Amino acid sequence: MKLNLILSLRGIRVTNGFVEKSLDEIRFWSRIMKEHSLFLRLGFRAEDTQLIQEANQFYHLFEQIEQRAHSFTNQIDPTHMKRFNSEVQQAATGIFAFKRKVLGLILNCQMPGANNFPLLVDHISREANYFRKRLMELNEGKLKPLADAIIKENVFFLRIMADHAKFIGHLLDPSERKLVDMARNFSNDFDQLVFQARDLESMKPQSQTVPLLDQFLDENRVSVTSLRDFKKTARELIEECRIKSIIHPLLADHTFREAERFLHIIDMFEAKLKNQNN
Ligand SMILES: [Fe+2]
Ligand SMILES: [Fe+2]
Repeated sequence: MKLNLILSLRGIRVTNGFVEKSLDEIRFWSRIMKEHSLFLRLGFRAEDTQLIQEANQFYHLFEQIEQRAHSFTNQIDPTHMKRFNSEVQQAATGIFAFKRKVLGLILNCQMPGANNFPLLVDHISREANYFRKRLMELNEGKLKPLADAIIKENVFFLRIMADHAKFIGHLLDPSERKLVDMARNFSNDFDQLVFQARDLESMKPQSQTVPLLDQFLDENRVSVTSLRDFKKTARELIEECRIKSIIHPLLADHTFREAERFLHIIDMFEAKLKNQNN
């Protein structure tokens, strides 16, 4: 079993690959947060000027963070990386609070006629919270044991995928009956996978055997791959204006990228599990 090297750097506990992992998370999620700001803004009403302004501020904040993350290399000083992580974590906490505030307004019926589903706003707030927590974990140098990480990440991402299928199904024009049906099937499939993942979680630690975890990853990979392909097709059809929907092309691409991210995470876990087994 390979142990993660813990380096002590000027009193900071830094795990091996700290800078690389931090930059990877920030580059991916800051773009996602930037796009969430755009989706929120598009769903507000013309009179929601204050909220539109707040959404625009978050858009620019995450755009800057994204650009800065791309300007750094893996050679950057870990203490500098740690400071940047804290700064980004604050921004993620800020957008999380904004999303929850918007959710509160919608659920109290204070924004009649606005176009963001409550589940979508909750969903994007969960993604902000995930990002915030990842940065905290990285800065504290705390890595979850592999078996725990496998279950936790899958529970999180399977629900995200189930939500995506629901959003696609609801934002397609109702006259696109076949595509709506396909989206509904994906939604059912992923709801089942979420329950399966929670069952495995409740059977911890006895359920954390290599064959069970391996099978769990295999099964999830099959469903995520087909959802990813469905999203890719939907994205192309939307971009070419071949189907009727109110899905923004960027939203289609956004959900596609999140599925790709989940697949990479599954593959990374699979490799680690094999490594641990040898
Ligand atoms: Fe997202
Ligand atoms: Fe998402």
